[in-house]
Amino acid sequence: MNQSRPDPKPAHLEIDPEGPTAPEVDGDQLFGAGARTPSEEGPTGPAELPTAVKRPLEIPGYRILEPVGRGGMALVHLAERLGSAGVPVRCVVKMIRDDRQDDVTYRERLLDEARIVAELRHPNIVPVLDVGVVDRRLYLAMGWVDGLDVSELLELLRKQRRELPLRHLLHVIKEVLQGLHHAHTAEGPAGPLNVVHRDVSPGNILVSKQGAVKLTDFGVAQGSVALRTERKGLLSGKVQYFSPELFETRIATVQSDLFALGVTFWEMLTVRPLFSRRITPLEMRDVMRAFDPRQLLEDDLTLPDGLEDIVLRALAADPTERYASAVEFLEDVNDYVYESGLRMLSTDFERWLEGLLNPVGRDGRRRLLSSRGAG
Ligand SMILES: Nc1ncnc2c1ncn2[C@@H]1O[C@H](COP(=O)(O)OP(=O)(O)OP(=O)(O)O)[C@@H](O)[C@H]1O
Ligand SMILES: [Mg+2]
Repeated sequence: MNQSRPDPKPAHLEIDPEGPTAPEVDGDQLFGAGARTPSEEGPTGPAELPTAVKRPLEIPGYRILEPVGRGGMALVHLAERLGSAGVPVRCVVKMIRDDRQDDVTYRERLLDEARIVAELRHPNIVPVLDVGVVDRRLYLAMGWVDGLDVSELLELLRKQRRELPLRHLLHVIKEVLQGLHHAHTAEGPAGPLNVVHRDVSPGNILVSKQGAVKLTDFGVAQGSVALRTERKGLLSGKVQYFSPELFETRIATVQSDLFALGVTFWEMLTVRPLFSRRITPLEMRDVMRAFDPRQLLEDDLTLPDGLEDIVLRALAADPTERYASAVEFLEDVNDYVYESGLRMLSTDFERWLEGLLNPVGRDGRRRLLSSRGAG
């Protein structure tokens, strides 16, 4: 989660895919400016939040440390929260990127993210700790995950020409499914929240060095506590993770989240993106019209039977053939793990991650030093 290296993540999108200005998905831009929901459309959106100006990051009560991530909308910094007892508590602070500050849509989204996540309490979802405005800039303080996101994990594996061992891969998927299940079914004081994440993708799944897995970035999520309303027919999220029916119905559902996790699953199995980072929304719509996951399996990958069935159901083009809920998906993964006798120990995952992050390792380092005559 380091800002200095090139961003391998696919672009975040909000656009009418059939609109005349459907742009290319490229880099870390947010697309569809012409198609963006005007802020006036939010019923009681925070239109009173004025446009922020570029200033150094200073938030009373926090010491802002280094940047740990950047997405299409936000910049995320590691920070220390300084309570009245003077004990610094580490967290992250998420703020709108400077180049997006002038667009009230992003501030509304960040507020809605806070409203939704504030209602969720689950070990597999990054919690919101505080929401504030400083120098007319909105910020969210959130729990810090000391590790990396899954797009970074896959990038590291690619660089080291390694695979993601199945037992660790399934651990990550299981944990995400538990977080998603909570989000999809959570209730607030006024009843069901009807949350749909809408941006399930590797960059929004965080893995700590101790092996904890947390879903984050509810920045385009929908839910009954959100105040902002999207203009009808617009799609939000990353086009490479859109399910076939999304292009037709334009309505995000639990099933479209599960399809997005299916694409993520596939990318973890193959350690490469399923769809090009440069695919346009129109191209993606056409690909999805003819999408058949069986074709993928024939062309690309050989999987054990039980696992193949899971991938086929997660990626089913017809949503009625797809998993109906995160729990259904989770049960199949659990059964597969049980039947295949995979050993899934968190200590094992932790050790494996440590080896990935420090490829030389302690023993390796000693060997390196001695081969140089230093030890
Ligand atoms: N709680 C956290 N702890 C550690 N790193 C984090 C945390 N939250 C976010 N990050 C890092 O910052 C990146 C951007 O954060 P986030 O996904 O919330 O921003 P965004 O602008 O909404 O992203 P997107 O482009 O997906 O819309 C993440 O991909 C991750 O690498
Ligand atoms: Mg993100």
